[in-house]
Amino acid sequence: MSGILLLGKFGQLGWELHRSLAPLGEVVAIDYPDINLLELDNLVTLIRRMHPEIIINATAYTAVDQAEIESEVAGAINATAPGKLAELAKENKSALIHYSTDYVFDGLKGSPYLENDTPNPLGIYGSSKLAGERAIAEVDAATLVFRTSWVYSLRRDSFVNKVLDWARTQSELRIVDDQVSNPTWCRMLAEATALLLAKSGNNPAAWINERRGLYHLAGDGFASRLEWAKLILDYDPQRDQQVVSSLEPAKTSDYPTPAKRPLFSALNCEKFTDTFSIRLPKWQEALELAMASG
Ligand SMILES: NC(=O)c1ccc[n+]([C@@H]2O[C@H](COP(=O)([O-])OP(=O)(O)OC[C@H]3O[C@@H](n4cnc5c(N)ncnc54)[C@H](OP(=O)(O)O)[C@@H]3O)[C@@H](O)[C@H]2O)c1
Repeated sequence: MSGILLLGKFGQLGWELHRSLAPLGEVVAIDYPDINLLELDNLVTLIRRMHPEIIINATAYTAVDQAEIESEVAGAINATAPGKLAELAKENKSALIHYSTDYVFDGLKGSPYLENDTPNPLGIYGSSKLAGERAIAEVDAATLVFRTSWVYSLRRDSFVNKVLDWARTQSELRIVDDQVSNPTWCRMLAEATALLLAKSGNNPAAWINERRGLYHLAGDGFASRLEWAKLILDYDPQRDQQVVSSLEPAKTSDYPTPAKRPLFSALNCEKFTDTFSIRLPKWQEALELAMASG
């Protein structure tokens, strides 16, 4: 048995995980089309052949609106495949690390969500991710599920890149101020995952098994999309290219989308910090670092 198997190396998070995990030892990183989570036989063959110590699943069906019309595909990737990964982890005595979402909540609580708050997803994406969490929890294996929120990267399409594009092409921007959560730079999420594994010693599966379960892990603090956008514009290293002159608040109801989003879905991440003595930095600090990193 050896090494780390990383699924989803081209995604926002997967890309950063590939980089952050490199100092820990052998990492086999793979993504679609070399592995397709809709074809479980290939996954089974790969894992039985490799016997990884740790499986990290950074793949997901993340098209929140498209999921409303592709519920079967979303369910297969976000629920069936993670359940199968947990079974394979058990069979191979590996540990599994998987990520879930704040969209499992309906956003009505009014204060940051705890792990044991009752989920109530508003759309297919959230329900498929919740089904994935549950499929993993049903298997008696060394599994960690990290629920995260508003993940962004500067190298793939993300809210941050969209705001930067809009600011270079539009003089007036209207951004919703009634959606609130924790902006999370994917690099920080990857670094926290790698740091945790670095602490796990020479039997990571046993170490993880003692701490197995569901944790919230997202940028520290929360903001509305409007507050987030303001800071993106402030930290933009190429501010001289901005043509935007006004940034106004809007409401989610002004922009109907196929999938409903939770309004207040901030996550309380204290359980993760208490358990692993690791915390993600303040979301503003991480944004400043991300913007400075180009
Ligand atoms: N993005 C967010 O705001 C957000 C918020 C909360 C939680 N999360 C969770 O955080 C995790 C990482 O998200 P992310 O933003 O990094 O996702 P992402 O950028 O969309 O990356 C997902 C990766 O999965 C791959 N993939 C999709 N379908 C596949 C299939 N059938 N077989 C194999 N690979 C497949 C994608 O490949 P293609 O690019 O080729 O499709 C992509 O490389 C996910 O669990 C997500 O649910 C994300």
